[in-house]
Amino acid sequence: MHKLLIVEDEPQLRSLFINAFKRLNVSAVAVENGIEGLAAFESFNPDIVLTDIRMPKMSGLELLREIRIRSTRTIVVVMTALDSPELPLEALRMGASDFIRKPVILSELFQTLKKYLNFLENNTQQTKTLGKYIYREAIIEFPTRIDLVPRMVSKLIRGISIPENILLGVHLGLAELITNAIEHGNMGISYDEKCSALKNDPMNGLEELYKSRLQLSETKRKKILVHFKMRKNVLQWKISDEGIGFDWESLPDPTSPENLLGLSGRGILLSRMQFDRLEYIGSGNTVKITKRISVV
Ligand SMILES: Nc1ncnc2c1ncn2[C@@H]1O[C@H](COP(=O)(O)OP(=O)(O)OP(=O)(O)O)[C@@H](O)[C@H]1O
Ligand SMILES: [Mg+2]
Repeated sequence: MHKLLIVEDEPQLRSLFINAFKRLNVSAVAVENGIEGLAAFESFNPDIVLTDIRMPKMSGLELLREIRIRSTRTIVVVMTALDSPELPLEALRMGASDFIRKPVILSELFQTLKKYLNFLENNTQQTKTLGKYIYREAIIEFPTRIDLVPRMVSKLIRGISIPENILLGVHLGLAELITNAIEHGNMGISYDEKCSALKNDPMNGLEELYKSRLQLSETKRKKILVHFKMRKNVLQWKISDEGIGFDWESLPDPTSPENLLGLSGRGILLSRMQFDRLEYIGSGNTVKITKRISVV
């Protein structure tokens, strides 16, 4: 069972979270500030930390800093209120994996946690192999299956020596873009459709929507194509889907804090934070990302 640490100063919210998470097969511990959070981090050794930012004694950002000194593998999700739109960006720069708006929307919380639990279950650990690639190029085809995204990413980065401190970020960044290619591209699901499915059923609405789309044989036969190139210390992935693309030129400015807590998605922003370049090509059904790595 995966372990989840909740750090939240409001007692009602702590018990709401603990109750809500009973439905997700996790072992959860809740504490009330950063100092307790750090102690619990060390004794409980959680896979995921869900922390408020504004708390007495030690804030969520200070806790995040302490966690990142100790572990670059732990998934850290911060919760932040609408009146501090600059905090999520700061948290992401400090190594947070994701953020959730406060007041918390239960469906958003469930979806986020389910995404990371699926990641923990399916990401196959990198095993050290002899030698390293200096040059590599590959084209890989994947099926339209959201549940397999973590395994697709594991396959994409296997055998490449990515420094430990950026491995989780690269993994999660790729996962967001492949998820978009499957969900919006091949399945043709819009942001509004996603929201209304979750409104009907915060826990399983999205899976139901995916299932119903996959009943169409036309959707099922669509593929995701990833073109990977590595030359010395530059990694590049081009992810293409068979959808119609989107108006990527009108994406909200990711550097403007006001847009961060708005009602649009977080995937592209989360991914953008992990790579040196992220650009859409043509109609938007291909995204190209580049990452320069230090040689290890
Ligand atoms: N491959 C794609 N094909 C079509 N539309 C896309 C594609 N990738 C992204 N989009 C559009 O860009 C929007 C923003 O994507 P982003 O990943 O940031 O948020 P989201 O997927 O809507 O929500 P979240 O990722 O937070 O669950 C999507 O809602 C969708 O309209
Ligand atoms: Mg997305």
